[in-house]
Amino acid sequence: MKAHLENAKKWEEISKGVKIVPRKMMVERNNKSDQESTEDDLSGFGESLIEKSTVTWKDIGGLDEVKDLIQETIVIAILNKPESVKPDKGILLFGPPGTGKTLLAAAAAGSLKVTFFNVKISNILSKYFGESSKLITALYESARAHAPSIVFIDEFDSITLSRDGDQGEASRKVLSTLLAELDGFQDKKSDRLVLTLAATNTPKDLDQAVLSRFPKRIYTPLPDKKSCQEIIKIQLRGLDSASIEFEKIGEMCVTNRYSGRDIQNICKDAIHSMLHRSNPDIFTDIDKIAELPFDELKKRTLKVSTLTMDDFTGAIARVKTPVSAAKLAEYDDWNKKYGAG
Ligand SMILES: Nc1ncnc2c1ncn2[C@@H]1O[C@H](COP(=O)(O)OP(=O)(O)O)[C@@H](O)[C@H]1O
Ligand SMILES: [Mg+2]
Repeated sequence: MKAHLENAKKWEEISKGVKIVPRKMMVERNNKSDQESTEDDLSGFGESLIEKSTVTWKDIGGLDEVKDLIQETIVIAILNKPESVKPDKGILLFGPPGTGKTLLAAAAAGSLKVTFFNVKISNILSKYFGESSKLITALYESARAHAPSIVFIDEFDSITLSRDGDQGEASRKVLSTLLAELDGFQDKKSDRLVLTLAATNTPKDLDQAVLSRFPKRIYTPLPDKKSCQEIIKIQLRGLDSASIEFEKIGEMCVTNRYSGRDIQNICKDAIHSMLHRSNPDIFTDIDKIAELPFDELKKRTLKVSTLTMDDFTGAIARVKTPVSAAKLAEYDDWNKKYGAG
């Protein structure tokens, strides 16, 4: 039991991107006979990737078409059906950073109340020479054991088959293992649902071979005006936003090519301004207040007041536009060429 816990802890650290196994040990490990390199080594890896998702579809602004497609895929996969109705193996989400790809996967898991596995494929590929594909197997074993499950695989572009050497070799093995696991999902004998959602911010880096195996490729675009307004309303839940001209801010967000994440940052910034305005006693003397012990601070409450348009225009002036128009055109082009619902 102790060994299991230690393993789980180790994988947890590695899955966060902390490299704790020195290269020398890796080589030694790879030289071990198959028998020595037991499956126990990998137990705990899948579990360490489980995240609790409390997100639901209601927490997503816009992305109606994407939501519908994912929901359809899930429903078809779950409902009883004749043999010849084959659900999709997996869905590939692509689009600029911060447009809600992770959020969509979390919402699918949170709404269905199923187990949510969240993994960056780049971590698996870069950390384990020779063991990457075993980690995929371990991941899917856990996903089946904890089924129904949703497996979210981020940074999917890291699977680069065209690369020579260790990286290309690891990618090929990982992809073939992954595809075999995805096929397993269609296994009629198994009613243990495991749905895979993959995501990339750089679809143009995807290999043709990877693409051809993921026919369902869905674009998560930057939010349009209506979606921006929805995202702002989600972020301001519970606060007084009666004086906010949502139309106007929505338009500014579109002009600035803001992603959902940028909008979230703007809302945070605007709320921060409102808090400053509403609590001068605290913020003009923050040094002194911060010297108070925890228990003293816990007795106090922040005042809130109406958010103003100035809070938002100030925030918008501070948040830069991260996606260039040229970059955005590239996403649109790629969508026209390869995107498919
Ligand atoms: N469509 C959206 N609706 C609501 N919030 C969003 C939306 N898109 C992005 N966000 C906010 O931005 C954050 C980052 O989004 P994320 O899903 O991680 O983007 P991606 O995975 O595409 O890079 C989310 O946690 C959420 O708070
Ligand atoms: Mg993400």
